[in-house]
Amino acid sequence: MFKVKIPATTANLGPGFDTFGMSLGLYNLIEIERKQKEGVEIEVAGYGIEELTTDESNLVYRSMLRLFETVDYLPPGLKIKLINRIPLARGLGSSAAAIVGGLLAANKLSGEQLTTEELLNLATEIEGHPDNVAPALLGGVVISTVKDKEVIYKKVTPPSKLKTVVCIPDYQLTTDESRSALPDKVSFKDAVFNVSHASLLLAGLLTEDYELIGQALDDRLHQPYRQGLIPGLDEVIEDLSQDVLGIVLSGSGPTAIALTLEDEERIGVEMKDIFAKQGIEAQYLVISPTDQGATIIES
Ligand code: HSE
Repeated sequence: MFKVKIPATTANLGPGFDTFGMSLGLYNLIEIERKQKEGVEIEVAGYGIEELTTDESNLVYRSMLRLFETVDYLPPGLKIKLINRIPLARGLGSSAAAIVGGLLAANKLSGEQLTTEELLNLATEIEGHPDNVAPALLGGVVISTVKDKEVIYKKVTPPSKLKTVVCIPDYQLTTDESRSALPDKVSFKDAVFNVSHASLLLAGLLTEDYELIGQALDDRLHQPYRQGLIPGLDEVIEDLSQDVLGIVLSGSGPTAIALTLEDEERIGVEMKDIFAKQGIEAQYLVISPTDQGATIIES
């Protein structure tokens, strides 16, 4: 028996749409046991007990089958337990965790034939974009893009004093739904705004310049279009931004993430209260960025 431990992730970090992602210290576990009989038995604990499928259509298992097929390995009989601590469809990378966890587990079972780069390419193909799967696999902050079907990426260690608070509204928003709010075209001015902000954000992260990080978190490519889908987000950003480095939408939402150096508990309570005033129940979690990506734990 072995386990795979996979971190939650927050994509975009404001201006880095589909490009920046950071891994967070909140983990899903996948327990894998071989069994004599053919086929798969899947059990879910934590988030998704009601909604996740437990047959061959399960995303963790589908990802495993995809790897087995790639390396031409006959799937053994398996007992899989998913212990889900990352809430589903909230912008915290639950599907990336499922994909990366499934691929790592299958790679181990089939003799570790794929390299990290190959795992990342496969994970990106399954997920459709690299910004969550890359930090889920590698940890840290990862800047990535896809060129000729290959992911080009660079991992950066998160600044040492950076803390994050996520405030998770009590409803799901799928990435597809959230992406459907985005326009086909943006103005030249807005494109330039994001190029400058994303570049400065990376410079801030690399040099641990917290003031610069705070100045660089604004975005004009996705958040303004998505705010209508997330009641309370505007107010959270407006009322609390001066108390923290910045507050942005986590991935495609609806979770809001505050980047801060201090006062995490107070910020969490205030974020939750502001959402509540807009009629949205939410819970907050203080979770720090982590430099550690998905790992295999032998038992
Ligand atoms: N970059 C993606 C988006 C992340 O914002 O749609 C989805 O989690």
